Amino acid sequence: MPESKEVWTSRLGVILAVAGSAVGLGNFLRFPGLAAQYGGAAFMIAYFISLLLLGIPIGWAEWTMGRKGGLAGYHSSPGIFHAIIRHPLGKYLGLLGFIIPVVVYMYYVYIEAWCLGYALNAATGTFSAPGVDYGKFFATYTGAGGDGVALHFGLHDVGIFVLIVYVCNFYFIYRGLSKGIEFVCKWGMPILILIALIILARVMTLGTPDAAKPDQSVLNGLGFMWNPRDIATGLKNPQLWLAAAGQIFFSLSVGFGAIITYASYLKKKDDVVLSSLTAASANEFCEVGLGGLITVPAAFVFLGAAGIVGQGTFGLGFNVLPFVFSKMPFGDFFATIFYLLLFLAAVTSSLSMLQPGVVFFEEGLGLGRKAAMAFLGVLTGLGTLIVWWFSKDLKALDTIDFWIGTVGIFVQGMILIIVYAWYIGIEPGWKETHEGSAMRIPGFYQPVMKYIAPTFLLVVFVMFIAANVFGWNFSFGAAARFTPTSYVTDLVGPNPSPVARGAFAFMAAVVLIIGWLVHLAGKRWDRQEGRKHS
Ligand code: TRP
Repeated sequence: MPESKEVWTSRLGVILAVAGSAVGLGNFLRFPGLAAQYGGAAFMIAYFISLLLLGIPIGWAEWTMGRKGGLAGYHSSPGIFHAIIRHPLGKYLGLLGFIIPVVVYMYYVYIEAWCLGYALNAATGTFSAPGVDYGKFFATYTGAGGDGVALHFGLHDVGIFVLIVYVCNFYFIYRGLSKGIEFVCKWGMPILILIALIILARVMTLGTPDAAKPDQSVLNGLGFMWNPRDIATGLKNPQLWLAAAGQIFFSLSVGFGAIITYASYLKKKDDVVLSSLTAASANEFCEVGLGGLITVPAAFVFLGAAGIVGQGTFGLGFNVLPFVFSKMPFGDFFATIFYLLLFLAAVTSSLSMLQPGVVFFEEGLGLGRKAAMAFLGVLTGLGTLIVWWFSKDLKALDTIDFWIGTVGIFVQGMILIIVYAWYIGIEPGWKETHEGSAMRIPGFYQPVMKYIAPTFLLVVFVMFIAANVFGWNFSFGAAARFTPTSYVTDLVGPNPSPVARGAFAFMAAVVLIIGWLVHLAGKRWDRQEGRKHS
């Protein structure tokens, strides 16, 4: 059995590490974009129901399974599923828990580099210079304007920052669990919250900067984000439920491999119930309480609704906001700390995407830390290069994010809760979750975990695929129509996109290679266990 010497140094440490994983670009960019798009209040209802019925219970299941696998000596998702499911195919149920973090890292780190680069550009006055064209800057910096245009290494390019961010991430992973991840999160999280509070205070006191446009006030900005607009119609739109449930998973990092690895470093009597709930609460505070109050109101005050609608997540964060900051007093300062905030949030998240990968190479293939990192560095580096070069309209990024970062996440979350509630069984699972727990879970979560969460997920997933892959227009009966969305037509339509096809082929290759590595790892684990038993 692989011997593990890594441990969290304190209970607060592991909570901050999980909260650090959860609080990321999803909180400050993705969430505000979705909430505004789906009309505030209605979205929030679906969002909170998903939090209570999916995010929190699946989080408990994942923490429990992680700790269980760790006690058996495994820390990677395939290893943990192998330890829990005594069947030769068991380890493959954990495959996506390895693939998702590693593949999401490939593009997440690229956006992380934009954040650092934007912070430096803000600090050096790029965004407040006279006559700066924000749209053009965005297009060349991120590469959205054309393939290859972002692959440059000047001060106003993303290149150097991609390198810096790679070195940073791998350096902290190399230092290990407590000296690396826990250290970064212990410092990063409080600083992040402090910066967010400063920016929040700034945004909330903006008032009505343009006397000629009295409608564009902070209060109306908050109203645009949060006022109930036709809740009943909103809640009848299945698309809204899909977006809300998907956001809960992505944001909490629940269900697909990050937390299962972090929890595997717990000891037998370490609490999981309250720790999981605390980390989730911290994430919700940052998401709803901070992320939800900054981005959209700030943009509204200077640009009105027109400046927000149709911008998309990246457009809002990296095209609209630099302009918005330039209109504020001390704008350069606030822009600098805002992008630093995004960067900090992103680093603590991207570390949680690397650890599951590194530890698999170590325990699955018996590599040393350096070799494992080299392997993972080459693999993820290749993916980042693809996203970076084939950047027109961020096509490669978007394709990979959809198939792995959205579809994959649903699938792995479903596997996880079903294994917990039906393979381990709800009664034994429940008992195990409560080992050493600091509080008891209310009893009604038993049926939630056994029936409601899997059913809810399955329904949402089927509708998700129907709508986002096959383009079902959500009407039943005669009016129902399927018109495949661009995610499908890009691959198999009459006018396929070579970039989308290439990105898809790359993902398929990664899945095959990693599947084969998991096969090899399984042989190794069987050998080791055979030796131990004899
Ligand atoms: N939760 C993070 C965010 O909100 C994203 C994230 C962290 C993630 N770890 C992950 C996504 C692992 C996929 C896989 O930004």
